Amino acid sequence: MAGRRIFSSSLLILLEGRYARWGRGICRFGTAAAIEEPITPPVQVNYTKLLIDGQFVDSASGKTFPTLDPRTGDVITHVAEGDAEDINRAVSAARKAFDEGPWPKMTPYERSQILYRFADLVEKHKDEIAALETWDSGKPYQQAAAAEVPMMTRLFQYYAGWADKIHGLTVPADGPYHVQVLHEPIGVAGQIIPWNFPLIMYTWKVGPALATGNTVVIKTAEQTPLSALYVSKLFHEAGLPEGVLNVISGYGPTAGAALASHMDVDKLAFTGSTDTGKIVLELAARSNLKPVTLELGGKSPFIICEDADIDHAVELAHFALFFNQGQCCCAGSRTFVHERVYDEFVEKAKARALKRVVGDPFRSGVEQGPQIDTEQFEKIMKYIKSGVESGATLEVGGERFGSKGYYIQPTVFSDVKDGMPIATDEIFGPVQSILKFKELDEVIQRANSTRYGLAAGVFTKSIDTANTLTRALRAGTVWINCYDVFDAAIPFGGFKMSGHGREKGIYSLQNYLQVKAVVTPLKNPAWL
Ligand code: NAI
Ligand code: MG
Repeated sequence: MAGRRIFSSSLLILLEGRYARWGRGICRFGTAAAIEEPITPPVQVNYTKLLIDGQFVDSASGKTFPTLDPRTGDVITHVAEGDAEDINRAVSAARKAFDEGPWPKMTPYERSQILYRFADLVEKHKDEIAALETWDSGKPYQQAAAAEVPMMTRLFQYYAGWADKIHGLTVPADGPYHVQVLHEPIGVAGQIIPWNFPLIMYTWKVGPALATGNTVVIKTAEQTPLSALYVSKLFHEAGLPEGVLNVISGYGPTAGAALASHMDVDKLAFTGSTDTGKIVLELAARSNLKPVTLELGGKSPFIICEDADIDHAVELAHFALFFNQGQCCCAGSRTFVHERVYDEFVEKAKARALKRVVGDPFRSGVEQGPQIDTEQFEKIMKYIKSGVESGATLEVGGERFGSKGYYIQPTVFSDVKDGMPIATDEIFGPVQSILKFKELDEVIQRANSTRYGLAAGVFTKSIDTANTLTRALRAGTVWINCYDVFDAAIPFGGFKMSGHGREKGIYSLQNYLQVKAVVTPLKNPAWL
């Protein structure tokens, strides 16, 4: 049970051990034959329509779009393509469910019970959910089944626990008044999520919005529409009233933009690229000034000090970058290594990348599946080329893996300099950039010299070094001697162009609450 608890509440604690075990000499990424005959996914696709007002419906235009299997580029199925008109229908349903429906008027206890029931249903159907997630996104099935779906369950239990513990304050006033501060739901929440963690992003957004009594219209990423439709069906089995949660599959500039600019959406939450974050913030400002939370890109430093245990640091730095095919907003994508341990580190980082198990994500023991799509594949290959052209040393990898789908070899560059595009831009792929440093002040300045500020990692045995770096680094999360440790209660979000606001923990609840002051004169001022 202890193992299960660690697993479900913290994505990484367990994965670190698992990946380290896989790393010990099993497979090489050279065995491309392992991907030539894709394994048949152990699941069927049952839900492909839009979820509006509790019903699965076709899009108003009747249009559909294909969702692809990243292992091959083949079509998995066609999904209803939501557009501005469908966003209007979904927002109307969410508005009605908020203004008239039972959801915001239910007791918080009743709402919490529905969230708990949903978490139980996710647990019950975890295998199909994980299989759909892997099929649509290419992430290793073991990662989806053993870490991400359990984490989803745990997060919904966490939010269910909050639902009946949200309360306001009474505050003293400088006069004969009784002053209450009520914490109320905002109304209709619009949410736009990306494709790298479709279910986890769904959870970070839907969980706090529903726990606080809001209604939701969520637009999923066009690359990964399937898992959100499946789990949203379970929400209705759990007793969620119709119209409270609406799911629109579709593209960004059409459905996404319509949601961001809708006059009847009271709050917007977005995760994705910094460029698109700017667009949705502008759309929100130009429409009804809805408040916006943004969780955007990163170029996070992972700093290995001279006193670090090198073998452990190599494994963690590898994991910090390569986890989820390198498609993580908080990837430790600038590996800073102290000059005294640099050569040893580079050799071992290269050896570790060579051992990385690349293959069909449904195959047991695979650590790395394909990238999400052609666009991301091309972008990553372009950055690899630029790394070579700008004079970094390509230690290993750098090529497509196999001949089908979007697989890329685990790639390591050493001798990376601060100004190179591979050191400044979010690559979002399996490409590790190793940089050398000498002094602590120097690495602080270099680590902070970025437009991003999502996360940072520090590897040292010295409490003083850790304390100095913790305070000096301008990032929303600092992991000391660990990386990618997530928990329902730990807030997550960025400094600078990595975003606005925080998700998870109590901070996520505040994003979905309005504060209302209620003032009543006291009849008998003697009892102030
Ligand atoms: P994106 O930011 O364009 O897409 C994320 C979401 O925004 C998707 O649901 C998309 O449909 C929606 N969207 C796109 N354009 C929109 C618009 N005009 N209005 C409203 N919504 C819109 O990211 P994309 O193109 O999939 O990936 C590009 C790069 O973004 C990646 O290479 C990576 O560097 C970064 N990225 C960062 C993520 C993160 O977790 N911070 C997640 C996904 C991508
Ligand atoms: Mg897909």
